[in-house]
Amino acid sequence: MKSQKGLIALTLVASAATSFSQTAVTKSVFGNTPDGKPVDVYTLKDKTLEIKIATWGAHIISVKAPDKSGNIADVVLGYNSMDAAGASYLADKNTYMGSVVGRYGNRIAKGKFSLDGHNYTLPTNDHGNTLHGGTVGFDRHNWTAKQIPGGVELTLVSPDGDQGFPGTLTAHVRYTLTSDKLRIAYSATTDKPTVINLTNHTYFNLAGSGDILNDVLMLRADKYTPTDKTLIPTGETPSVAGTPFDFRTPTPIGARINDNNEQLKIAGGYDHNFILTGPSDLTHAAAKVTDPASGRTLTVYTTEPGVQFYTGNFLDGSLKGRDSAPYTKHSGLCLETQHYPDSPNHPAFPSTTLNPGETYHTTTIFQFGTK
Ligand code: GLA
Repeated sequence: MKSQKGLIALTLVASAATSFSQTAVTKSVFGNTPDGKPVDVYTLKDKTLEIKIATWGAHIISVKAPDKSGNIADVVLGYNSMDAAGASYLADKNTYMGSVVGRYGNRIAKGKFSLDGHNYTLPTNDHGNTLHGGTVGFDRHNWTAKQIPGGVELTLVSPDGDQGFPGTLTAHVRYTLTSDKLRIAYSATTDKPTVINLTNHTYFNLAGSGDILNDVLMLRADKYTPTDKTLIPTGETPSVAGTPFDFRTPTPIGARINDNNEQLKIAGGYDHNFILTGPSDLTHAAAKVTDPASGRTLTVYTTEPGVQFYTGNFLDGSLKGRDSAPYTKHSGLCLETQHYPDSPNHPAFPSTTLNPGETYHTTTIFQFGTK
């Protein structure tokens, strides 16, 4: 029995090593932080994919993937520069392009919540609410990085009181590439009770240019969380059936985006949290996007209970991307795997509380393919 177990363990180690050994990881300098510290970029390269991760904001800055004929394009929006005017990560103050958002991704109503009898107030930065962790969220810090097999681990220590949140939070994000899958594993610990909701805010464009309205989306969600006019959930969780929010059968994103629907009008498109149906694990696809023209596909797996589907409604053409093309409305889509927005103020939603002695763990996989 003992030797059999040993054999199984050895085989697992060997297969993990084999798959990672195909992924080359290299490091280079990308630019500088506002206070002159180097920002590094890690390149993860496998047979078909080349992915770049920056230490600044733990951003995914590039994902090069082949189409059905083998032509390579960058399938995420991003910039070539840290600081170029109008076309860089420092010039971009509010799209969160490719970053890890935290400590609380998405919104907290009026920047207020209470935990264990204490009231907390956070800086507000979006219609009187706190969005993506406040005015200086995790996207605007240079993370510490270390190379790991098949990828990179980024670490950020957010001090007690950072952006008003309680507790020193130590967060790790591990990006690893195995064949066609980019795995993002988040973990964190705290020294005081706090709230946490980490996600990645990549804008995908599987065609590599143009808009995403012809992309066909499947979202494994029977319900969603409608919002008030400031995009805070009302607390209701209605069925998607018979509404433009029903993507259980694959449907082009543009097919209903301009329907006469109050929720779509509030957000200027889709910008809603979908409640995933069925097991939150890494074997059942939560979402799948197909670009019919290029044949590229993106499949999303996650341990999270929700996904914010956002159609780049606030991209207004004022920022130019890596090919100098302006990023205009709907030029990318985000599938932000997450707990629901404003959970600290909705006891009925899955909890986002993290206590000392516990470890926060969530994982999301982005799988790139062709059809
Ligand atoms: C999230 C939000 C959107 C918008 C973008 C960033 O996806 O839900 O409303 O704020 O981030 O622009």
